[in-house]
Amino acid sequence: MIPADAPAWPEFDDDVASAPSTRDLAALAVLADDLTALDYTVDGVEALLGAAAYAALGRDQLVPALLACRRLADGGSESGDGARAIPVLLWLLGETVTEQELGQAFPRTGVAGLEQLRLIEHAADSAGGSTAERTAEDTADHPAGSTAGTPAVTDPVTDPARERRWRAAVELRPYGSDVGGSLWVASDLGSEQRPGPLRHDHVLGIGGASLTLARTVMRTPVGRALDLGTGCGIQAFHLLAHAGHVTVTDISDRALAFARFNLLLNASALDIDPHRPGPRVSLRRGSLLEPVRGEEFDLVVSNPPFVITPRTGSPGRAYTYRDGGLAGDAIVSTLVRELPGVLAPGGSAQLLGNWEITEGTPWDRRIRTFVPPGVDAWIIQREQLTPVQYAETWLRDAAENRDREAYAASFAAYLDDFAARDVEGIGFGSVWLRRPRKPSDLVRVTLEEITHDIEQPVGPHLAAAIGRSDWLAAHTEQAATGVGIADEFLLVAEDVTEERHQRPGAEHPGVILLRQGAGLRRTTLLSTELAGFVSTCDGDLTAGQIAGALAMLLDRPDAAFTSELLLDVEQLVREGFLLPAP
Ligand SMILES: C[S@@+](CC[C@H](N)C(=O)[O-])C[C@H]1O[C@@H](n2cnc3c(N)ncnc32)[C@H](O)[C@@H]1O
Repeated sequence: MIPADAPAWPEFDDDVASAPSTRDLAALAVLADDLTALDYTVDGVEALLGAAAYAALGRDQLVPALLACRRLADGGSESGDGARAIPVLLWLLGETVTEQELGQAFPRTGVAGLEQLRLIEHAADSAGGSTAERTAEDTADHPAGSTAGTPAVTDPVTDPARERRWRAAVELRPYGSDVGGSLWVASDLGSEQRPGPLRHDHVLGIGGASLTLARTVMRTPVGRALDLGTGCGIQAFHLLAHAGHVTVTDISDRALAFARFNLLLNASALDIDPHRPGPRVSLRRGSLLEPVRGEEFDLVVSNPPFVITPRTGSPGRAYTYRDGGLAGDAIVSTLVRELPGVLAPGGSAQLLGNWEITEGTPWDRRIRTFVPPGVDAWIIQREQLTPVQYAETWLRDAAENRDREAYAASFAAYLDDFAARDVEGIGFGSVWLRRPRKPSDLVRVTLEEITHDIEQPVGPHLAAAIGRSDWLAAHTEQAATGVGIADEFLLVAEDVTEERHQRPGAEHPGVILLRQGAGLRRTTLLSTELAGFVSTCDGDLTAGQIAGALAMLLDRPDAAFTSELLLDVEQLVREGFLLPAP
């Protein structure tokens, strides 16, 4: 029998003073009750703020939400909306609230409970208002619970006219996911809620890249999964919906503390026993694959700290959430090379990354060399930036563009760093790797650039593509015995349309295109014979029969015509324009 007050993960102390506390599991359960009662969910916050203010908040424009919340909070709490505005003001907008407002909104947890959980701290300015003068260092130097170094807070007992005010110590955001309904995710406050440069051990909330990876992962049920570089734990939450067990790792104690808090706060939605989480989740501290060496996983996901940052000789200045501490794109090359080593047979890894593109070479030349022999790989480049665009993006990301001189020096450091390696472009995209089930399995390495908008979540479409590729590989293996795809019946996918372009008066179309409306939304150019093939794919004739009929029609009885046509047909299957008939 595990005592109710036993720590969830005894190997981790609750000693990260600048992260939420997980010491008191009962307090976490009570907080979850309060948050549920406040309908602090994505839908609840949208309904409270109204669609326009909510959408503005998504663009980091806080003012409309602030006006709406203040109106609700100041207008009395008869409808309960005044109380519902309090967590939004506090944790999404970075505003201060009064002790009374907090007490009413969180009747079960209470102000003391929120403070004990390290979710709130005394506001430096007891008169309230904006948090604009604060800097990130406030929290670093004076962790939650400590008021040392901050201006004295007015004590309401001695000065009842001025009520004590509180501000968020962290961000606590509702997250609507396909996992277990609504979750709450704690992370560090962003620069729009707490102006000034981010602290260097900033724990990222759910950002654009987090969502990109979450939508890219193929959600096939698996036994053991690994979330490498977990941060606030967002990838682990998704993994817990389709993995029996998830191991999360991070180099940062603060990140692991936030992940612990989030896992336990959402224990019921994530199907975790907070008193005994081990059978579902384990946590490891350490760099890259070091904490899991010698183990095997069915699925590894990672949104690693892939940002290429100039080595300035002062590692303390790097941002842990985005800078893995290695030169150039070495984080990504290391992971692509080494991840297959922790995959179980048939297991796969999915990660995001940046890679350098050396002057005068195709984008895929370098990244191709990262893929070790004997593994399947599919690398999709989604975007390519110049060194100037890259420096601009990442200096803005960490709010480092405030001090003009420092900004110029950092910008120059980025450009010098890229120039030193003859880098003319930086690619961004996703990497999928798979260890074959048996060493004799055929492997395929595909690198492609897809920069247009694709359907999200794209994971199911990627999984279907892998399924088709495996189906083709099985036929290629059988082709030696004369079977191949020639005996298969094929159908045109539901989302595919054909587009013909013809000069006015011309007898035949000059261009025939096939377009996908869903998934990767590919467009492909068809030859006349391939267009003829596709138009006949209604499941009545086998691929071989259609190819034979076309050969006769076009008076091309040579075997090369048929085999080349069937190779093109295979590519249409691989890309999802044609599907094996069920
Ligand atoms: C970009 S954040 C991703 C966080 C989260 N997984 C997500 O998808 O939003 C990268 C995470 O990797 C961690 N990290 C940085 N260097 C690392 C290393 N060498 N090994 C493992 N994790 C590292 C950071 O602390 C951070 O939490």
